[in-house]
Amino acid sequence: MIYKYVYGNPFDTEAVTSEVPLAEGALPFGSVDTEDGFCFTFIMEENDIVYGLGESNRGINKRGYCYVSDCSDDPNHTEDKRSLYAAHNFILISGNRNFGLFFDYPSVITFDIGYTRMDTLQVTCGSADLNLYVIEGGSAPDIVKQFRRIIGRSYIPPKFAFGFGQSRWGYKTEKDFLDVAEGYRCRHIPLDMIYMDIDYMDSYKDFTLNEDFNDFPEFVRKMKENHIQMIPIIDAGVKIEKGYDVYEEGVKNRYFCQREDGSDFVAAVWPGDTHFPDMLNEDARKWFGDKYRFLTDQGIEGFWNDMNEPAIFYSSEGLEEAKELARRFAEEENTVHVWEMGGKLQSLANSHEDYRRFYHNVNGERIRHDRVHNLFGYYMTRAAGEAFERIDPNRRFLMFSRSSYIGMHRYGGIWTGDNKSWWSHLLLNLKMMPSLNMCGFLYTGADLGGFGADTTRDLLLRFLALGVFTPLMRNHSALGTRQQECYQFENTEDFRHVIGVRYRLIPYLYSEYMKAALNDDMYFRPLAFVYPDDRTARRIEDQLMLGNEIMIAPVYEQNADGRFVYLPEEMKLIKFLPDGTIFEEILAKGIHRIDVALNEIVLFIRSGKCIPVADAAECVDSIDYGTIRMYGYEGAEYTLYNDDGIHKDYDNKENYTVLRK
Ligand code: NOJ
Repeated sequence: MIYKYVYGNPFDTEAVTSEVPLAEGALPFGSVDTEDGFCFTFIMEENDIVYGLGESNRGINKRGYCYVSDCSDDPNHTEDKRSLYAAHNFILISGNRNFGLFFDYPSVITFDIGYTRMDTLQVTCGSADLNLYVIEGGSAPDIVKQFRRIIGRSYIPPKFAFGFGQSRWGYKTEKDFLDVAEGYRCRHIPLDMIYMDIDYMDSYKDFTLNEDFNDFPEFVRKMKENHIQMIPIIDAGVKIEKGYDVYEEGVKNRYFCQREDGSDFVAAVWPGDTHFPDMLNEDARKWFGDKYRFLTDQGIEGFWNDMNEPAIFYSSEGLEEAKELARRFAEEENTVHVWEMGGKLQSLANSHEDYRRFYHNVNGERIRHDRVHNLFGYYMTRAAGEAFERIDPNRRFLMFSRSSYIGMHRYGGIWTGDNKSWWSHLLLNLKMMPSLNMCGFLYTGADLGGFGADTTRDLLLRFLALGVFTPLMRNHSALGTRQQECYQFENTEDFRHVIGVRYRLIPYLYSEYMKAALNDDMYFRPLAFVYPDDRTARRIEDQLMLGNEIMIAPVYEQNADGRFVYLPEEMKLIKFLPDGTIFEEILAKGIHRIDVALNEIVLFIRSGKCIPVADAAECVDSIDYGTIRMYGYEGAEYTLYNDDGIHKDYDNKENYTVLRK
């Protein structure tokens, strides 16, 4: 059962796509105070687990910390951080009673989940203008499903996007990309995508190519012939440059975000000074979305949207203030402390002050950016998603974004931004996955190997071993860090094998993804969603259920040669050995110590179930479904979903085949 409470005059975020009845009477759980802003308070029982918040820091159970939905370009995801790139304001309280709450509010909102007081959940925001959706139901999975129903079907990428992708900030020329392709192909390490980061552009101008690309359509075609899709990045800011068509058109048509005085707001990002297309303005959104045609017309079938919190290095106003302070610092002795000067420079980037300096035009109404800040990435990706519908309504395009809000899950997936080559981030990656699924984001994954800092061979292999299971499987790293392509390390056959296992599992992973998307289900679930009465399972945060058949338990510590795993029921362990064979063993319910070498992948099949496993392949196109063998329990059945992976023929009954072990 779902109903909605309306407070004040909410901004229509269009996160929810279904009609939801208005609630009558007081909230059934907790209380709301609208005296000074908005404050929801609920006293938690000791056993209550609080799930949700999608892309946010810390655990699957969000209790014990404070999280702030305030889309931020912060590349240091340390444990103390309260905000990351997204605003996913859905929480689920699960204990003696289960209920879900979606705070549909597009500005800064704080979730204090037993941080100030251990037993108190408090959700607060500055203005009491929001829709609060309350979802009641039997079980936690049921509540998620009801929520997912009202926010609309999750985005479905083309099938090639389930292959492995290589990315690095710094690839610039045709040769750079060809070298990557060659690096993988000559070692027979599977690969389906190479990502193009900002250097493929001319001076970081969206929808341009640098001078190295003589015949881009031919380049893209040749790569595709080699079963590699090129996936360019698109940034939120449009470079200010006379004669650059995107800039000129945007200025002429008033499609950029403006200051209070009507002038176009200026923010410095990678290209230097830029304007932000007003993604919340329908006309501007259509215009910006249609720009993607520049690349789709040349054969491109996928994109990633970046810097769309939106990230601001500094604004012209901020810079002027800093210059003035610097002048006083230099000229007027002892009036400006060195810390104040340093603080000013540091606070230039992504400042809330700047977010108050520009406006959107939403159906003729001027809305100051800070009031709708968390929607920018969502609406940028929506611009692209709506354009893809116009370009070819029956074709799927790959699209994922850095910043997001619930609602964006209909238009694209997300990657989890600038993580680091840290073991702790491997675990964080795992923990985020089910929370993201609860909020509708199914096509997700982290930068495998870690984006910032130098990776190590073992960390990359362990990251990949988790990435084998995440829908988005991409190795990406930052400019200036250690080279991180799989072929940069010794014994590349280990990488070939580990990534090869991904391709062996694609029949299962794709099938489970599609079923999850088509039925508003989760692809990754916490163990507690499947074994709610099992006290141990309810607290496990380093193992996940994937689809309906398997459980995964990745290794996330350096120098570990295995780990302890809790089996909530009897399961069959399946281990993909480096020689291509598969070791199987039935293990009883309980705790087991499992050996997992760096070049092995382990999963657990639930009692009475089975999964399809194909032979390894070097790209999605060449997976031979004829080689599928069923692993698991004798007599079990599995419903395989498969389609052409390109079009949107989802409801065709022929996509389903029942397979037996
Ligand atoms: C920030 C993104 O998070 C990262 O993935 C990308 O490499 C850089 N921007 C450069 O475009």
